[in-house]
Amino acid sequence: MESAEIARRFLRFFEERGHKVVPSASLIAEDPTLLLVNAGMVPFKPYFLGQRKPPANRLTTAQKCVRTPDIDEVGKTTRHATFFQMLGNFSIGDYFKSEVIPFAWELLTRSESEGGFGFPPERLWATVYLDDDEALDIWHNKIGLPLDRIQRRDLADNYWHMGVPGPGGPCSEIYYDRGPEYGRDGGPIADENRYLEVWNLVFMQDQLGEVRNKVDFDIVGELPSKNIDTGMGLERMAAILQGVDNIYEIDTTYKILDKAAELTKTRYGRDPRADVSLRVIADHVRTGTMLVADGVLPSNEGRGYVLRRILRRSVRNLRLLGSGDDRYMHDLTDVAIEVMGAQYPELRADAPQIHAVIDAEEASFLGTLRTGTAIFDVAVEETKRKAGGTLSGDQAFQLHDTYGFPIDLTLEMAAEQGLKVDEEGFRRLMKEQRERAKADAAAKKTGNADISVFGQLLEKAGKVEFLGYDLTEADTAIAGILVDGVSVPAAGAGTTVEIVLGRTPFYAEGGGQLADQGVIRTGGGEVEILDVQQPLAGLFVHRGKVRTGEVKLGEEAHAEIDVERRRAISRSHSATHLVHRGFKNALGETAAQAGSENSPGRFRFDFTASGAVPASVLREVEDEVNAVLINDLKVNAFYTSQAEARAMGALAMFGEKYGDEVRVVEIGEYSRELCGGTHVHSSGQLGLVKVLGEQSVGAGVRRVEALVGIDAFRFLARESLLVAQLTEQLKARREELPERVEGIVTRLRAAEKDLEKLRSAQVLQVAGDLAAKARDVHGVSVVAHRAPDGTGADDLRKLALDVRGRFPADRPAMIVIAGVPSDRPVVVAAVNEAGRDRGLKAGRLVGVAAKALGGGGGGKDDVAQGGGTRPESIDDALQLVQETIAGQLG
Ligand code: ALA
Repeated sequence: MESAEIARRFLRFFEERGHKVVPSASLIAEDPTLLLVNAGMVPFKPYFLGQRKPPANRLTTAQKCVRTPDIDEVGKTTRHATFFQMLGNFSIGDYFKSEVIPFAWELLTRSESEGGFGFPPERLWATVYLDDDEALDIWHNKIGLPLDRIQRRDLADNYWHMGVPGPGGPCSEIYYDRGPEYGRDGGPIADENRYLEVWNLVFMQDQLGEVRNKVDFDIVGELPSKNIDTGMGLERMAAILQGVDNIYEIDTTYKILDKAAELTKTRYGRDPRADVSLRVIADHVRTGTMLVADGVLPSNEGRGYVLRRILRRSVRNLRLLGSGDDRYMHDLTDVAIEVMGAQYPELRADAPQIHAVIDAEEASFLGTLRTGTAIFDVAVEETKRKAGGTLSGDQAFQLHDTYGFPIDLTLEMAAEQGLKVDEEGFRRLMKEQRERAKADAAAKKTGNADISVFGQLLEKAGKVEFLGYDLTEADTAIAGILVDGVSVPAAGAGTTVEIVLGRTPFYAEGGGQLADQGVIRTGGGEVEILDVQQPLAGLFVHRGKVRTGEVKLGEEAHAEIDVERRRAISRSHSATHLVHRGFKNALGETAAQAGSENSPGRFRFDFTASGAVPASVLREVEDEVNAVLINDLKVNAFYTSQAEARAMGALAMFGEKYGDEVRVVEIGEYSRELCGGTHVHSSGQLGLVKVLGEQSVGAGVRRVEALVGIDAFRFLARESLLVAQLTEQLKARREELPERVEGIVTRLRAAEKDLEKLRSAQVLQVAGDLAAKARDVHGVSVVAHRAPDGTGADDLRKLALDVRGRFPADRPAMIVIAGVPSDRPVVVAAVNEAGRDRGLKAGRLVGVAAKALGGGGGGKDDVAQGGGTRPESIDDALQLVQETIAGQLG
């Protein structure tokens, strides 16, 4: 049975029993206590707590989940995955134990032809919490499950909570017996590999306070009602129903695994280590694809870091399978989109953006991996040379900080070399760095802040009304004041604060648009606002400094934005929409927006394109956009349903597909996009758009930067001035400039070449002289010479070879030339064949010299090069080489 069919059956079964089918929520948890949704019930937590009214008392979902605490186990066991889907049915104060157990039993044991999963009843076991006689009684007397297949288990196994304050309750789990070939008899308490957990029924009844760990928490009361929360792992069900041994071999992951094997020319099932890599890749590529599709972008913090780590682990495992510098993530992501697209059709629509993000991360990681691996190898060599078994915390930190190596990658690579890593030292350095960064960024962004305080504010103050589409100033009230992340009742002059208002005209940075700046005034104080962020949907946090007086919680306030700045930003934002449409018109619909930043007078626009965009296309787009300005099209914003917007062909950035109502911004008939940003009223207000050029910002992603309005005009005026200066200096007319400059450059290059030849000739002039003055050391002609400072390494090499060539073939000759091309010494040795017959090796002698110079080097027997750090030791080094030769020949 295919995964998609398992989900369909589950949802249909509960729909037929009065449950409302709710689509999966985004993986990005709204809950401020979680980074990512990790269980089916997460979106429903406010219903269980009685904070919000559910759309119905019976709900059912197939919820996307990501869990990464066991990421190291992925691929090594049969059942650990970072992404999975949890099928669940929920009762919010409706039915309880006596109904949920029969529901579960019926769906599991009903035959496949009648819409069930067809499990043989005699293969099923149940567990209940220690003293839950009620559940045990239902299993035994209502279902007829024999007592010897019902086991009582303690908190660790049969109590479920979210790991944070919130709802919790005892649970009853259903296990499937895979048979004696998978392990010993005795039920789930004896062997959880043979007896696989297929469904967890949680009796949500308790309100938890502090949660210290799985088994240590405070129950502070009862929930407003008795509820049901169940979870069935879709992937695990698929493994059972598809008759495969592990979750990496089910329909949705196996195709990715298979593709990875094909690309890396590996055979699955041959080598246990390669198998682990293949499973990791299959799991991680799918997880990465799903996270990116929900709008997560790789970064070094929070969920962005989870994603980065997952993508980098995929690339790393591909390399372990021998992918080298080849890039396979695109093809693998294609497969992931294809297999998951059956359940999540938006993946197919968003494919270009998903690829853009994943390809770019792969490219950047391969770059760091190349450099980092070289550094890592040196560190390993050094550690081994010192006969140490542990890479220092310093080295691990440098790899992380400079080369982007996640610590787990360093750990993994070190383990492959039989080394340990001083993790404690590494963490100490990380902590120090974080503290430095925190001090630096104290006033900016929410990245480092503890977001739970924002959660409390949001719960207290509710969603903030944004007035900024229509107003630039408004009367409002101070709903929250934070200093250093802590709620305070008031803040005085000089304090850096974060302020939450009841309603606000300030736009919070988002959708590529920078935040507004401005002032908030109360009766007694004035705060200058420099940045506005939205750490949680609907919560606007205004950052700034109290300039005068004092601001107090609950006070009335007047908020006013910097109108000039806002207008300039709005012009940029409207221009971005036009340029987006322009590129689509020029390059086709696959040119999709991958990111943007709208700042005053200037914007950046990233989009997907397979290669560099020709200058002619840039001109064409610029021209088309400026024509739109002249036509002065009306800009119109309105709200509509997601489906209606799609039907109208509105362009959407991905990650924003969960709300029912969306905002559409259209510029005449020319452009239509989903957008929450602020815009001009008509395109003529932009004045002028000047595209500055384009560049690559990762595989398949290009970036253009452009200027808008007066900034565009000023730029052109400066260019014009520059041209005037050049015509003056070169005494040429404007249109002659390119030709004139080309002529100058060509002549300059020719002159440089001549000079170079002359210099080489000069160096080589001494060659005859050196050969003639060679010393005879036991029948070998030895030349040891120091070239004038500034002689290039190439010339040193040429000279050594030239001198060597001046000896007859039957005369053994050994030449060593040293010099200082810029600030570090270089040494080159060359031996002819007759010299090599006498046992002289250029590589070995260079090694001797380089060591004396405080460096290293080596190479082939006939010619070799090395270098060091101590130019002052050149004479000693040459002396040492001659002694070594004499010693060897004597
Ligand atoms: N919330 C329960 C779980 O995640 C069903 O296992």
